[in-house]
Amino acid sequence: MAEITICYCFNVTKADIEKRLAEGKSLDEIRADTGLGWGCGGCARMAEKLWGENGDPNDPSFYFNAVETDNSGTGVESDAD
Ligand code: FES
Repeated sequence: MAEITICYCFNVTKADIEKRLAEGKSLDEIRADTGLGWGCGGCARMAEKLWGENGDPNDPSFYFNAVETDNSGTGVESDAD
């Protein structure tokens, strides 16, 4: 299974974070150890939503962009009007 990268600035993967959480580290400690969220900041909100105080690590909407599709399989949008 491919690794899911959470922080591209510091190459921190989902597995890295979950391993550290299992070791008893807090998200703040993980940020300090890895740089998570301290580069461009683009991953900070996702990390907070997944593993922060009120986070939900099983929320799939933060792994994939929630783009609505027509599921027709064509990959082409209709321009009927
Ligand atoms: S992607 Fe994590 S700080 Fe830029």
